[in-house]
Amino acid sequence: MSAPAARHDAGTAPPAHIAIIMDGNGRWAAARHLPRIAGHREGARALRRTIEAAINHGVSWLTIYAFSSENWRRPVAEVLDLTGLLRHYLRSEVAELAANGVRIRMIGDRDRFDPDIRADMEKAERDTAGNSRLNLTVALSYGARDEIVAAARRLARAAREGTLDPATITEAEFAAGLYTTDIPDPDLIIRTSGEQRLSNFLLWQGAYAELIFLDVLWPDFGAADFAAALDAYARRERRFGARPG
Ligand code: FPP
Repeated sequence: MSAPAARHDAGTAPPAHIAIIMDGNGRWAAARHLPRIAGHREGARALRRTIEAAINHGVSWLTIYAFSSENWRRPVAEVLDLTGLLRHYLRSEVAELAANGVRIRMIGDRDRFDPDIRADMEKAERDTAGNSRLNLTVALSYGARDEIVAAARRLARAAREGTLDPATITEAEFAAGLYTTDIPDPDLIIRTSGEQRLSNFLLWQGAYAELIFLDVLWPDFGAADFAAALDAYARRERRFGARPG
């Protein structure tokens, strides 16, 4: 990893937690008359660059949307390509990430993946649990609405069992039932490829996140785009719903 980049001198403090919707792999491949998997492979390279950029900029938390709960509905061949890439990534990249101080966590419905992938996910989490330089959260088979419904069910069960009074439920108690219970809310959500929507990503956690939409396709995303997003964020004024002071 290279030396830390210069910090911002603008008003808003650098984001502690950046979340990224990595979009545009398919279009990147189509523009080159390549199969979609070529775009996903190049996307995995962009992910490596992004992790390095996050470390170099001193970002503590990075969450990436690698596979949504809706992605299971893609053609079987593409799902197999994506899960194959995930398997490869978990086996070949985790050691280097661990050596660079990265802690890896997965959020999402991991039960839908094959047992060998689930075992590799658990190993990656276990092997990196002591690291804290960068907290990397990988959203896999993740859908925010499913996550919110599961959190609601958990409270409903407690209410039915008589251990919880619905009238006293707080935001914190609700959030404790989300996958991200130990993870701070994102300060900044970046989406590549020019699309401007959240696509069921961190809907609860992103309530006050700044949103930045970039025209670059994910496989082309690099350190300069990361730095540009940080600069754009630094120019935002975050008020969290309060009136300007
Ligand atoms: C969206 O592009 C991207 C995905 C559905 C997959 C993201 C996966 C990677 C970046 C690969 C590396 C990550 C791991 C850990 C496996 P799209 O296919 O929706 O692109 P399109 O909108 O242009 O069709």
